[in-house]
Amino acid sequence: MSDQKTLTSLAEEFGTPLYVYNRKAIEQAWQEFAQALEGHRHLICYAVKANSNLAILNILARLGSGFDIVSEGELKRVLAAGGEPGKIVFSGVGKSTREMAAALEAGIRCFNVESDSELERLAEVAAAHGVVAPVSLRINPDVDAMTHPYISTGLKENKFGIGMAHAMDTYRRGASLASLNIKGIDCHIGSQLTNLEPYADAIALLIDMVDRLDGEGIHLSHVDIGGGQGIAYTSEESHLNIASWADCVVQAIGDRDLEILVEPGRYIVGQAGVLLTRVEYLKSNEDRHFAVVDAAMNDLIRPALYSAWQGIEEVETLERESKIYDVVGPICESADFLGKQRELAIAQNDLLCVRSSGAYASVMSSNYNTRARAAEVMVSGDDATLVRAREDIDALFANEFMLP
Ligand code: LLP
Repeated sequence: MSDQKTLTSLAEEFGTPLYVYNRKAIEQAWQEFAQALEGHRHLICYAVKANSNLAILNILARLGSGFDIVSEGELKRVLAAGGEPGKIVFSGVGKSTREMAAALEAGIRCFNVESDSELERLAEVAAAHGVVAPVSLRINPDVDAMTHPYISTGLKENKFGIGMAHAMDTYRRGASLASLNIKGIDCHIGSQLTNLEPYADAIALLIDMVDRLDGEGIHLSHVDIGGGQGIAYTSEESHLNIASWADCVVQAIGDRDLEILVEPGRYIVGQAGVLLTRVEYLKSNEDRHFAVVDAAMNDLIRPALYSAWQGIEEVETLERESKIYDVVGPICESADFLGKQRELAIAQNDLLCVRSSGAYASVMSSNYNTRARAAEVMVSGDDATLVRAREDIDALFANEFMLP
């Protein structure tokens, strides 16, 4: 079955808008990390936030993947999908007492602690539960990830991590607390990085701190370099080379006895998904041509939120006049567009495919304008399986109540 035929038949069978994922592409992207890090002790912790569909988590769990979570909700998903608790790391600046307790109970691999106050809280929660919490400190290395400001996280102006100047003190304090076990160091400097340099800068700073801690008798067993490995959204861009990235990390570690942890999200699932949408109407004014499609900013908010560019293509190439269109959704906002000024040869009812929609698409969807979230389908070989049903409109307000 050709790619084109598959997408057309999937749209007919499951309706649009529809996210379509490809199992093989997910597995291949994960294997790139596994192969690049082969020969060095490592754990790939897929960043669940990129796409938390149970089928995706389960496919990765079957490969032996670890997971990077940021909430109790993500913890529950990973466990429900068969992920091993001992391979979960817990990131995020705002872990609640309840979330810490749930993660301790599950027996996760490590907490990536982001502040002094979080460290104190975690020590208290662990003590109250009579357990010892495994801890890594997330360092804010203050390096420029050279990415969009909204997805850059490793600068002093960002809320993330503990500043370099202060981190040694936090480590000393952590090491003095009986209910904490200091295991590692981590950072995450940003997302969609297509350049190796920021990684090289960050890992050098982390390793320097590992050595200084060692000198004080605080011995770490792992370095977690975060995620952020970028993909090519446009044909002019190139994705981060994972083999070179791994070389850079392995070289910086040298002969130190440190396990490498990595938290890729986008790289694993980004190119493995598309968003299928149907053209409802074509309209033109003096200035522009518009293709009004049935997917909207509630299905894919990246263009509106980050001015992100994602490829939009006709699913079938048919004999049509080509024009430059703004591809817009039905939502009542001018920011509701999937792409602007795209050359397309389309007519009403044609199918369009928005590329690179496996990451940060369905997970960031909303019910704005009381629109039901789209269905999700996984293609595995010749099979296509519904992995998330389209939401039912009545269910969208079933938890709302009128006054008596
Ligand atoms: N680890 C931590 C601690 C993170 O905060 C993130 C992403 C990752 C790993 C995974 O990063 P990745 O490998 O996917 O780049 N919604 C934005 C991206 C936000 C990323 C947030 N943190 C977008 O659509 O571009």
